[in-house]
Amino acid sequence: MSGGTPIERVWPAPGTGPLTDPQLTALYDRATQPHLRVNFVASADGAVTLDDYSAGLSGQPDKRVFGLLRMLCDGLLVAAGTLRHEGYGAVRLSADRRAWRRERGLAEFPTLVVVSGSLDLDPAQGCFADAPVRPLVLTRSDAVPPAGLAEVADLIRCGTDHVDLAAGLAELRRRGLGQVLCEGGPHLFGALTAADLVDELCLTVAPLLAGAGPGRITAGPASAPRHLSLRHVLAAADGVLMLRYTRDHPT
Ligand SMILES: NC(=O)c1ccc[n+]([C@@H]2O[C@H](COP(=O)([O-])OP(=O)(O)OC[C@H]3O[C@@H](n4cnc5c(N)ncnc54)[C@H](OP(=O)(O)O)[C@@H]3O)[C@@H](O)[C@H]2O)c1
Repeated sequence: MSGGTPIERVWPAPGTGPLTDPQLTALYDRATQPHLRVNFVASADGAVTLDDYSAGLSGQPDKRVFGLLRMLCDGLLVAAGTLRHEGYGAVRLSADRRAWRRERGLAEFPTLVVVSGSLDLDPAQGCFADAPVRPLVLTRSDAVPPAGLAEVADLIRCGTDHVDLAAGLAELRRRGLGQVLCEGGPHLFGALTAADLVDELCLTVAPLLAGAGPGRITAGPASAPRHLSLRHVLAAADGVLMLRYTRDHPT
């Protein structure tokens, strides 16, 4: 998968030439501590969707990194809004990527973790019905599952009036899912930011003006700003930027 539109590092230490998949993997390597990484794509003017979906913002370089990030995680965290809207199917990885995981003692596939307060979920949706690993659903204590959901997913109840994301994340870590990749959407990202749970943001910037209308990559009630450190800037030959930021740890 190293073919396609070349991606180069432009900061820090530019001029290394097109990055291979192993080099890209090293740039996004697993953390040594429990870690929550969030991945989004946005337009240059900050839109989270084009024609209501993320697909119009994404291209081959973004999909390449998106797939690598999935290979690197233990748990794949997705909010119910995005899962329903984008029609998530089963999490799939190529044979090479499954082998990469096995060689490192990881489960062959990451576990899909859905965040839903309402449990308005369709057990027949591909992400549940065809899942290679039984998904988990973080939900409220009193939420009532629809018929069939308990057959295809395990519920983790955390929080009474809302899903307590800190408690949910702690439970995932207790179950061995230390490296969590969140693929959105904006309301979940906003809530994770407000709860100060985000360790990393991987942001792809597509070189286009989407214009007014679409939302941002974050949504929901306002919260305190959180400072980040820039770790790298990658540029694809088609003008797409890939930025990696991590939490600014107090020194
Ligand atoms: N550009 C990108 O990279 C990207 C990535 C992802 C999504 N998107 C786009 O974002 C849009 C969907 O976003 P959305 O506004 O529906 O938001 P969302 O964040 O995907 O989903 C919100 C839902 O998450 C569930 N939830 C439960 N507890 C929560 C908590 N504590 N905090 C936050 N959410 C909680 C709720 O589901 P229940 O209703 O089941 O309770 C809530 O309705 C779509 O247009 C999608 O295409 C873009």
